Amino acid sequence: MKPDSRPYVHGRTVREAERLAYQASGLARILHHDTRYPAGSRVLEAACGIGAQTVILAQNSPEAEFVSVDISPDAIHQARRRAGQEGFKNVTFGTADVYHLPFAPESFDHVFVCFLLEHLEDPLLALNRLKDLLRPGGSITVIEGDHGSALFYPESPEACRVIRCLIDIQAAMGGNSLIGRELWHLVDEAGFGSVDASPRLVYADAGHPDGREGVKKIFIAMVEGVREEALSRGMVTGAGWEKGIRDLYRTTENGGTFCYTFFKVVAKKMTG
Ligand SMILES: C[S@@+](CC[C@H](N)C(=O)[O-])C[C@H]1O[C@@H](n2cnc3c(N)ncnc32)[C@H](O)[C@@H]1O
Repeated sequence: MKPDSRPYVHGRTVREAERLAYQASGLARILHHDTRYPAGSRVLEAACGIGAQTVILAQNSPEAEFVSVDISPDAIHQARRRAGQEGFKNVTFGTADVYHLPFAPESFDHVFVCFLLEHLEDPLLALNRLKDLLRPGGSITVIEGDHGSALFYPESPEACRVIRCLIDIQAAMGGNSLIGRELWHLVDEAGFGSVDASPRLVYADAGHPDGREGVKKIFIAMVEGVREEALSRGMVTGAGWEKGIRDLYRTTENGGTFCYTFFKVVAKKMTG
């Protein structure tokens, strides 16, 4: 496959780049606080995108050496610029497809994957390819969301409908935005050992207002990104779309509640 020839549900717009950057920094405490790599270890980050998570990883483990790849040359260009601007010397970047990675078997101590498997037609094959590159005893960390975990108040059938549009469009492109609930099983099925999953909750209400910006800038912005596609496929009317989005924003105001779960799985490649 030619690099970057695959359709990508969130698009590659400036707004999406801003969303990924906000997502990485806004969720850093929840998702990454317990990911640290020892000095001298070699870490493969598969599907680094614009480098939004890369800079957090590199900052948290300044003495590890990161190799970060993505199928999109444009994303890699942005990632390289971001890491350069922030002065990181412990990351190298390259364009590569996760199914055909240009590295020697067992050449990495750790693998890190965030928000990739949900976009792949064959996440199990990708996990197997990554396992081949990991040395025995090395670890894999995989983080995915699950759009079915979005719970909110006030209830709104229209808000459920616009979320469903994103889930169905991503599925039509071969992805699975409900993958979080399957993650433990996928990693286990790929033959890793000591598989451990931990759900990471994002919660916002009037008593927990700090989470509200994230809900708007990460989750609702992501749903808004499929507006044109949803309308052109006739999945929803224009009025239904506007009400659904308005109702989602209402869950982030006083009187509203929003809750979403990410899934983080850490496992080991077994020796022998
Ligand atoms: C949602 S972004 C996540 C990027 C980054 N991990 C983050 O969390 O900010 C998904 C990324 O997966 C990349 N991608 C999709 N299919 C891929 C493949 N087969 N091999 C490598 N990267 C791929 C896309 O180009 C995109 O940059």
